[in-house]
Amino acid sequence: MARKLKSFSRPKAGSLKNSYEMIIAKRRKGALEIQLNRPDQLNAINEAMAEEIIHAMDAVELDRKTIAVVLYGNERSFCAGADLGGFQDLPEDRYDNYRARYNQRKNRLLYRFLMNYTKPVISAVEGYCLGGGFEMAMMGDFIVASETASFGLPEGKHSLIPGAGGTQNLPRLIGAPLAKELIWTGRRISGAEAKEYRIVNHVVEGGKALTKVREIIEEMKGVGPLATMMTKQSINRGVDMTLQQGFMQEADMAYMLSWSDDRKEGLQAFSERRKPDFKGQ
Ligand code: COA
Repeated sequence: MARKLKSFSRPKAGSLKNSYEMIIAKRRKGALEIQLNRPDQLNAINEAMAEEIIHAMDAVELDRKTIAVVLYGNERSFCAGADLGGFQDLPEDRYDNYRARYNQRKNRLLYRFLMNYTKPVISAVEGYCLGGGFEMAMMGDFIVASETASFGLPEGKHSLIPGAGGTQNLPRLIGAPLAKELIWTGRRISGAEAKEYRIVNHVVEGGKALTKVREIIEEMKGVGPLATMMTKQSINRGVDMTLQQGFMQEADMAYMLSWSDDRKEGLQAFSERRKPDFKGQ
């Protein structure tokens, strides 16, 4: 007798919790805005905060109405890095800690989760953006800073290294010599200096970083969400490929999009001189 095969149904969006302990997560005008909310610790990330960020972002990844995620803190601090009180490595636990380093430790999983997220992740930075906080912002897609922002990777001062992507992402952004100087001194740089090095896309007046990000997201609404998903993948994959491989994977993305209803709608709307109504399919 033939086997009955169960087919998968379309995956569905999850739900945000009504409230979280370490973050405030709210939907606003097509974006999920996540405010890091441990002000007394300058928003240092601990396991619970990492888990909550993953939970909230996971809940909206399949929600077609959410086109981007915004990370922000408060005027004093975006995030002062990993919670320095949080790690103990007893000799008898070492291999469990080693095994846990990628998936079980949420404060590590978060960084790869951010890198692989299929929607734009934008950081609005005011105040301190240090260590793991800076690494979190770099794992996202781009950063908008205010004049009050202060970026740095001071881990070496604790004989730690920027182990959440900092030694890889910073040199890719600004080149190895400058990245080495910043990591080897732990020096903090202003929003303006970060703009000069192209770490951030914009520097705005103090208190205005989130407003600027919201304006950019409004403008992003004119672009089809599937095109944004594919170009994010194409750019992220392409930077680690040869140019020829990059062109080939880009052509694959372009071809995959040709089957979408949104592409038809985009072209139809252009010919009818109206705004397209994208459905994300
Ligand atoms: N982890 C845990 N707690 C942190 C923290 C971190 N990464 N960064 C700051 N805090 C806490 C402080 O312990 C302090 O708590 P307390 O009031 O209970 O003592 C509170 O946040 C305020 O910090 P404080 O140092 O008093 O403020 P400041 O304005 O004098 O200095 C910084 C601000 C950011 C320069 C300083 O807190 C600092 O250097 N933090 C560590 C940054 C770092 O090395 N990050 C990389 C971690 S790998």
